Amino acid sequence: MTTLAPKIQSLNIDNSNQEQIDEDMIIQGIKFVNYKDESQIDIVMKLVGRDLSEPYSIFTYRYFLTRFPDLCIFAVPENDPNAEPIGCIVCKVDPEEDDQMNENEGPTTKLCGYIGMLAVDTSHRRSGIGSALVKRAVRRMEHMGCSSIMLETEVTNKAAMKLYEDRLGFMREEFLVRYYLNNNDAYRLRLWLKD
Ligand SMILES: CC(C)(COP(=O)(O)OP(=O)(O)OC[C@H]1O[C@@H](n2cnc3c(N)ncnc32)[C@H](O)[C@@H]1OP(=O)(O)O)[C@@H](O)C(=O)NCCC(=O)NCCS
Repeated sequence: MTTLAPKIQSLNIDNSNQEQIDEDMIIQGIKFVNYKDESQIDIVMKLVGRDLSEPYSIFTYRYFLTRFPDLCIFAVPENDPNAEPIGCIVCKVDPEEDDQMNENEGPTTKLCGYIGMLAVDTSHRRSGIGSALVKRAVRRMEHMGCSSIMLETEVTNKAAMKLYEDRLGFMREEFLVRYYLNNNDAYRLRLWLKD
């Protein structure tokens, strides 16, 4: 059985490009900036690593950031030119899992976006930054042709569950028993974008 993965197009987004931005993706005093290059990997690791129950290796970060630089977005305070990012999201795009296993002859065409990491510094939480980062990343993955977006989160992570389910319309798809190294269970959540 051979299935051909669809070509995943890079967006080639730079900060000057005009993306379609809705009002709820704009946060007063915060600018949203694209990941540039490997020199920023420490910033991502610092932001994301603080809240992780299990550490990711640098190879995991590299996998996402090298293959999908357009899908890493920082939130940075606007008023200070030297300000460090206070939030970030890291995503990737894969062929849909069901599609890869399908024994049909033609190439698989469905793409699924995946949110690998999301973090907002404690001092800036509950201001809509997390939601704005997710919406911006989802918009990009939709633009790349994804028909849905997936992620996993610990069942005990109330903030993430509320953000994804209540605020953004993700739905519970699977309960993953002892998914994390700390033995915590997870939900796999999915947001359907189109057929
Ligand atoms: C999850 C996280 C990214 C949310 O970031 P944020 O910028 O505070 O999120 P928002 O301000 O956009 O919140 C949107 C909604 O999510 C829910 N929410 C966010 N934080 C919450 C909390 N601590 N308790 C309950 N609900 C919460 C609320 O419904 C909130 O809307 P409201 O403020 O109008 O009530 C942030 O808490 C974080 O970095 N946590 C640690 C890392 C993490 O858990 N990442 C997700 C892994 S899957």
